[in-house]
Amino acid sequence: MEMGSETKHVMLVCYAAQGHINPVLQFAGRLASRGISITVATAAIGRQRILKDGDKATAFEADGNIKFEFFSDGSDPLMPIKDLDDCLGRLEREGPESLAGLVEDLRVQGRKVTYMVTTPFTPWVIDLAKGLGVPCSLLWIQCCAVYGYYYRVLHRNRAEMEVPLTFPGLPHLKPEDFPTLASPSSTYNRFPLLLTQLYEKLGDVKMVLGNSFNELEPEEIWFAEGLHLMKLVGPLIPQALLGCPTAPRLRKDMWVAPSNCLSWLDSKPEGSVVYVSLGSVSVLPPKQTEEMAWGLKISRRAFIWVVKPPENSSETGLPEGFLEGVEGQGIVVPWCPQVEVLSHPSLACFLTHCGWNSTLETVAAGVPVIAFPQWTDQPTNAMFLVDVLRVGVRLKVDLVTRDEVERCIAEVTDGEKATEMKKAAARCKEMARASVAKCGSSERNMQAFVDDIMDNGP
Ligand code: UDX
Repeated sequence: MEMGSETKHVMLVCYAAQGHINPVLQFAGRLASRGISITVATAAIGRQRILKDGDKATAFEADGNIKFEFFSDGSDPLMPIKDLDDCLGRLEREGPESLAGLVEDLRVQGRKVTYMVTTPFTPWVIDLAKGLGVPCSLLWIQCCAVYGYYYRVLHRNRAEMEVPLTFPGLPHLKPEDFPTLASPSSTYNRFPLLLTQLYEKLGDVKMVLGNSFNELEPEEIWFAEGLHLMKLVGPLIPQALLGCPTAPRLRKDMWVAPSNCLSWLDSKPEGSVVYVSLGSVSVLPPKQTEEMAWGLKISRRAFIWVVKPPENSSETGLPEGFLEGVEGQGIVVPWCPQVEVLSHPSLACFLTHCGWNSTLETVAAGVPVIAFPQWTDQPTNAMFLVDVLRVGVRLKVDLVTRDEVERCIAEVTDGEKATEMKKAAARCKEMARASVAKCGSSERNMQAFVDDIMDNGP
């Protein structure tokens, strides 16, 4: 598509992980529907997974006005993603030059970039945009409470990393509720460095946008003085979950779901199925997989469980005889269409790792949860779901036993407490829809951002 001289062309830059691609693609869709041309630029390491076999070109149209492009991160795109620190380091070393080359190539093709948006793993995009004289905003893809937490402990007071903290609008946060990537015991060193750089560059960004909504995080956005005011434009999740079933279904899954998930759900009674998934990164250790497996079996509830084998392996770690023993009760799949599963009437609850996308999706679907956070922002998100929104319970101990799994499933699906959680989840669903409705808070913030794009650049 050759663009006219008046066309605004926004480049959204993100890391090539499912949890980053998904909200960025939804954001792209919201902008494209307002007539803005979008390039989603992501690291080459994701090329093979995103393009899959059918897509031969390096760039392709995900939707009329949205194209994907890849820039080099110094890695072999055919190799599996092994180590986050290693990937982020390569990205930082190789990314800026390669992305600058891509922007120039696009200009030569008549697709001049007029605005850039970075996500948290690529803070150097802010410098690149500045050098090119192009305005740049930040899209924070986790909750604003986490943004404020990192700002406070990395930018202002490192001594607060290990003591309980109070933030306006949130329950007292204990260290076990903190995001793990800034913890002194974390083995991921590059992430705190990247975030520190990000906070230092905030003076050069036009707007800080957040994948959350004011009805969900009303006060937290104010809590860290000195922070840019964050404008919340979320939830950046498929519109089907927000009451718009006919909106175009933007999707770029890195794994393939078997075709039987939804027909299997169709065969189950309303409100009867436990959905278990730990997102696109986490893999349970073998002993925990075993306890989870037997916990699901003894719960006697129907279940659909996503067990993603580790990179380069087909080994699921399920105990011997488990699959035969649960035939008729549950299915285990390597990936599933999560949005469709969460909106299916057969669903009872979601046992989730509380990745921020899954958190927003379950909130918008009105599905109660069993929170099972693993790392990064997930403990804070779990606290949100359980202690603030009161839509679920939390699996507590380090190694969760089968009895604890069974007990939590019973608590969320049966009895008075379960009824209260269901009601709270239904209220959350309404809040999410209200935020993106005409004149809703996120819709207004999105319009303010679109106005900024229209007012800036050539
Ligand atoms: C990562 C981090 O782990 C998470 O904590 C952070 O908030 C975002 O980046 P991930 O672990 O993949 O993300 O979890 P999540 O944020 O929930 O994103 C997973 C996405 O994959 C969701 O949009 C979900 O709908 C989708 N998904 C997951 C599927 O479509 N099918 C599946 O089987 C599993």
